Amino acid sequence: MALHRTPGALRLQDLPTVPLADRVLMADPQEFDVVYAINPHMTDGAGQLPLVAREEARRQWWCLREAIEELGVHVDVVPPLEGHPDLVFCANQALPIQEAITGGQPELIASHMASAERAAEVPHIVQFLRGLGYRAQALAGRDLKLEGMGDGLWHPGRRLLWAGVGPRSEEAAWAEVAARYDLEVALLDLVDPDFYHLDTALCLIDERTCLWYPGAFYAEGRALVESLFERPLAVPEDEARHGFACNAFSPDGRHVLIQRGNTKTGELLTEAGFEVLELETSEFMKSGGSVFCMKLHHGPLADAPLE
Ligand code: ARG
Repeated sequence: MALHRTPGALRLQDLPTVPLADRVLMADPQEFDVVYAINPHMTDGAGQLPLVAREEARRQWWCLREAIEELGVHVDVVPPLEGHPDLVFCANQALPIQEAITGGQPELIASHMASAERAAEVPHIVQFLRGLGYRAQALAGRDLKLEGMGDGLWHPGRRLLWAGVGPRSEEAAWAEVAARYDLEVALLDLVDPDFYHLDTALCLIDERTCLWYPGAFYAEGRALVESLFERPLAVPEDEARHGFACNAFSPDGRHVLIQRGNTKTGELLTEAGFEVLELETSEFMKSGGSVFCMKLHHGPLADAPLE
């Protein structure tokens, strides 16, 4: 077990293989809106909250859900929680830990959200995941911030966790997770406020390939990414910052679901052999999120039926 901030000690081929996640959790968008600002994307230049077209948001959410299901991936849907507009970003409330890693039952680490506005989302999502067979764990360090798969990304197919350290999750929380499960953790400090979660700047597509925006990291973090991915595909700044190009999602390591209009990123992916599926998430981008954070990719679960 170790935390890694620099390349050298970690080699992918030395890490045990683990199964790929195979199911998706989404949260009903009924309550989605922008009514407070907790990241820089949630206000305009004058500090005003954006107006959300709530019907359009629901349409966009359904298109994403259907696109995932059309790829043959099972989607479970969490009911809405009144007064919780950000519940829909259900990548954030828990970090799922599959059986191959716990050595027993699948577990989850309940998040400790950085903002009070989102705190009540955690028990709501955790209760649903318990129903799917997860044993819920809390951080022993009760004051430590951690926002689930907003900042914690499992390397596809390997026993390795990529962990963002920044406004939403702190190093001591990752140290606790690493110690509890005897994990190798690759730590990436986030240096730019627009990239407030790791999933806004890094997208793991398959064992060898990621999308990333290098400008969101210090030199040592950039070196770490470059040392562990054969194909780190660097996204241009405008597409990363304004198009949420790194907040993409590959359910199967072949198709990549991504916000519409990220043309250069799309070309990079196509040249690398992936099939790009463009979606519209403009209403959710007003809240600082896109495809990746509108779902939790998790499993496999031995006991939970897929229907
Ligand atoms: N408004 C939400 C927040 O600031 C958006 C979360 C998006 N999630 C993500 N993983 N990027 O918390």
